[in-house]
Amino acid sequence: MWASGVARNDAGELTLDGLAVSELQRQFGTPLFVMSENDFRARARAFSDAFNNAFADICGGVDVYYAGKSFLCTAVVRWVEEEGLRLDTASGGELAVAARAGIPGSDVALHGNNKSDGEIHRALDMKLGRIVVDSIAELERVARIAGNRGETAKVMLRLTPGVHAHTHEFIATAHEDQKFGLSMAGDSTEQAGLSAAEEAVAAASGHPSIELLGLHCHIGSQIFEPDGFALAAEKLLDFLAAMQSKYSIVLPELDLGGGYGIAYTPVDTPRPAAEIAQAMAAVVRTKCAELGISAPRISIEPGRAIVGSTTFTLYEVGTLKTVRVDAPGADGSKSGNSGETGKNVTYPRRYVSVDGGMSDNPRPVLYDADYSAILASRASAAAPQLSRVVGKHCESGDIVVRDVYLPEDVAAGDLLAVPGTGAYCWALSSNYNYLARPGVVAVRDGSARLIVRGETEEDLLNRDMGV
Ligand code: LLP
Repeated sequence: MWASGVARNDAGELTLDGLAVSELQRQFGTPLFVMSENDFRARARAFSDAFNNAFADICGGVDVYYAGKSFLCTAVVRWVEEEGLRLDTASGGELAVAARAGIPGSDVALHGNNKSDGEIHRALDMKLGRIVVDSIAELERVARIAGNRGETAKVMLRLTPGVHAHTHEFIATAHEDQKFGLSMAGDSTEQAGLSAAEEAVAAASGHPSIELLGLHCHIGSQIFEPDGFALAAEKLLDFLAAMQSKYSIVLPELDLGGGYGIAYTPVDTPRPAAEIAQAMAAVVRTKCAELGISAPRISIEPGRAIVGSTTFTLYEVGTLKTVRVDAPGADGSKSGNSGETGKNVTYPRRYVSVDGGMSDNPRPVLYDADYSAILASRASAAAPQLSRVVGKHCESGDIVVRDVYLPEDVAAGDLLAVPGTGAYCWALSSNYNYLARPGVVAVRDGSARLIVRGETEEDLLNRDMGV
């Protein structure tokens, strides 16, 4: 759950690479995203090494595209590049960050189910290594735009293999009822028996302005078991082989997307990257042998698994309040919050308000996501008390950590740290209630620097035209 380099000093205060959280608060204020640069680099390398080793004898290694949507800024793009990874983007804005960081366009991919013409032009301006095309209409647009420019667009086709992963498990369905990608189902076009995926492959090969590199799929996020990835790989390899035998089209690349899960609380037990990589490699090896094809070059797009655990959010505690709740299960609910008391055993739950909330981490509200928290500014030997860490927004659903035991002497002015907030927290942050979005600080070898500054009141008022 925690970045390497997180520890407690002799005074009992949480530190990252020896820097105490009180010092971070003094320099940068709270709330604050505190990221370990060394941990980010180490996780990027570890992921890349695990997959490169597992696939070395199959296709010479794997291209790892860090999924920038999970957290992106200029510094992170530079780390990604320095560690030998590539970058996956999903909008013109993310491309702008990539361009500012100076990463070569050939190492960048562009996704999106509804790319604008402007985004396609930008991708071509930057000479992107791949545009991941999501629909036949988009394929035609990319072909037209590239053709008009007298250029060739390098394209991957995003397919929906009918494998859908929900966190810890996956389901395989005939159809993908979702907005992304080209269906592989036989009846997904007007032509009987022809799937949208097949139609796109045939169409792409007929466009001189398109260089069709291969196929892509992404089956979901926060996935723990390799089975879903493996099944998707098998389906795409079947399809790839079918295209080879039917149209003599050899597709040299296969991207298996991202989605590798991390631990948010102690109950989460993700598999090590090496284990997942080996399981996927075994399936690709066997399937290619069975189909009699040479293995395509494999790529993957992890986001959360690289950045998620590198970061904790530092909050200052404000108001505290205690209510009595039913014992878990007494009212049929997960945590006994029906408000009915009297007939059942009740016990206290303390609400611990912090100076951020759903604006810096909307994941508990959006996905019912669980987090944990610890008292960071000092050690305490006080008895643990069931606590709910909540934000300062005008919504009762503004929960940061639903249930966590914190020392009963936690008081206003204490600092709390919530681990695992590197992915999809800052990226999804908002200005709800006109709260300023927090900054992100990178700590490396004992010194801290802002990589994204926190917003000021001036930032908040900047776009209000005042008329
Ligand atoms: N590739 C594609 C095409 C994707 O759509 C995504 C994530 C990734 C890679 C990276 O997935 P990761 O390895 O980070 O799981 N906001 C949600 C997650 C949305 C994921 C969107 N796509 C959350 O906070 O859980």
